[in-house]
Amino acid sequence: MCGIVGAVAQRDVSPILLEGLKRLEYRGYDSAGLAILNENKKLQRIRVQGKVNELRREHQASPLKGGTGIAHTRWATHGKPNLINAHPHICRDQVALVHNGIIENHEELRAKQTAAGFQFSSETDTEVAVNAVYEALQTSPDLLKAVFATIKQLEGAYALGVINTEEPERLVAARKGSPLVIGIGIGEYFIASDVFALLPVTQKFIFLEDGDVADIKRDKLVIYDANQEIVERPINVSELNADAADKAGYRHYMMKEIFSQPNAIAESLENRIDDGKVVASEFGQNAESIFKQVKAVKIIACGTSYHAGLIAATWLEEIAQIPCHVEIASEYLYRKSVVAEDTLFVFISQSGETADTLAALQLSKEKKSLSTLAICNVAESSLTREADLVYLTHAGPEIGVASTKAFTTQLVGLFLLVVSIARHNGLSLEEENVFVKELESLPGRVNQILQYKDEIETMAKDFSDKHHALFLGRGVFLPVAMEGALKLKEISYIHAEAYAAGELKHGPLALVDDDMPVVAVAPNNNLLDKLKSNLREVQARGGKLYLFADKSSQVESSEGVYVIKINGVYDFMAPILYTIPLQLLAYYVAVIKGADIDQPRNLAKCVTVE
Ligand code: F6R
Repeated sequence: MCGIVGAVAQRDVSPILLEGLKRLEYRGYDSAGLAILNENKKLQRIRVQGKVNELRREHQASPLKGGTGIAHTRWATHGKPNLINAHPHICRDQVALVHNGIIENHEELRAKQTAAGFQFSSETDTEVAVNAVYEALQTSPDLLKAVFATIKQLEGAYALGVINTEEPERLVAARKGSPLVIGIGIGEYFIASDVFALLPVTQKFIFLEDGDVADIKRDKLVIYDANQEIVERPINVSELNADAADKAGYRHYMMKEIFSQPNAIAESLENRIDDGKVVASEFGQNAESIFKQVKAVKIIACGTSYHAGLIAATWLEEIAQIPCHVEIASEYLYRKSVVAEDTLFVFISQSGETADTLAALQLSKEKKSLSTLAICNVAESSLTREADLVYLTHAGPEIGVASTKAFTTQLVGLFLLVVSIARHNGLSLEEENVFVKELESLPGRVNQILQYKDEIETMAKDFSDKHHALFLGRGVFLPVAMEGALKLKEISYIHAEAYAAGELKHGPLALVDDDMPVVAVAPNNNLLDKLKSNLREVQARGGKLYLFADKSSQVESSEGVYVIKINGVYDFMAPILYTIPLQLLAYYVAVIKGADIDQPRNLAKCVTVE
């Protein structure tokens, strides 16, 4: 989604803004731009339809210099991804503004402003905001007051950065529904959509809260809350260093992140296990007393995080015997649902900024529930601030748009949750000890599976000319198959669908021919024989099978059947283990197809609009 960077400093801020935009690329975007106030108090702007590197090139050809500036990467929502719609937007050469979010009442405001004589140069919802600031400045020439007057008119979500030629050392920022942080330098301040953008210039951050407006000058920062009262917000010192976002020698962030999973899982488990037991207080101080009362669990998430929820639901019902219902956040929001007594709501999100998941959390607060828990990778995100209980996955920054290590560490956290709840519902200490051992074995076992990378790369060649693929799984491996299909479609653009293997003959079998690869995970569990019958149905129709199986599964490669046998002894960790080869398969297919792996077309890392 859109990314914002801004700065007020004594030095030329354009390199800081360009570097910041580069570091926000992972969020996904289609155009970029920056506006700088130069020493003559003139606004200068460069915009490109395309990548930040092109913006850099244009900037090199005709550099902009100045101590105050704003910059933006745009992910199109209203209006095409072209040059005229790229930010910053400027009104009458006086006010420049960048915006992340959606202004829902933009049509109404546009009509009013058109009647008042404003002309529009873009199709965006954002332009009404810059016009509104300009209009307010005509009655009171104070940028802060003009921003207050503007946000009063705006409905929807926004993070804004605004500068004004008449107050050249001032930047006003506002946040409602879209993330925005302030970076604190020495005699300089910055704004950005996330901390990564600013790590080369500071480690100190303030996370604005919803409704906050920040009045930023070189040597002074004042923050106002939604009631326009001055507030103090805590300063956080980030432990991340600027290199946290580099590729560490890998060709793509996604590859780096796939291969960092043993480490990420180990980090995720640190301090969470003690003496063979799960440390339930890692979910929050009063987590233990809440877990004692849980009678039902509702998990809400989107995309890959939703798949993690589906796996956790199987664990929860099997291990803790607690009913669990999993919902896609955008569906949950718009249906009438019933909350069972003593329900724990669990929200899963890598970013903690996904608009639908956040809205679902708000909605859940209106219902009578036991408590809300966020499972999240970003400590100071909106989700972690809003939920009663918080579990941080500690996966480290995930830059590739396709989620990998965030998913596997979410599963680790969810398994810890299941054990913590099950303990109050019949799980014995001995059983808990066994589960803890399984968890502790994970980093090493994931590492072993990563060693199959060459075989998987060879398998991937068969997919490069295909347009469709089916993924099959049964039981807890259905969501694993769903995750495999999502990975393949999002980064290689091959249409891929997952089905419960038993459903095949109820429809999708009609699609199977020698042009339709069928991928299945075949762990040696109680469903293996059933799965094998389903696979024979595929073979009989000339379908080509690609299987990931346990060494003990007794499925062999043969004509039309390509088996990679992994050392994946079946236990509760198996869904995590079997996800790894599917991530690698998607990755290698996308590499062969030459796709933009870390920033797939049309996608964004952080989906901050509904
Ligand atoms: C797929 C992917 C997305 C996200 C989804 C939710 O690889 O990354 O499907 O899982 O957009 O994002 P979070 O987890 O940040 O709420």
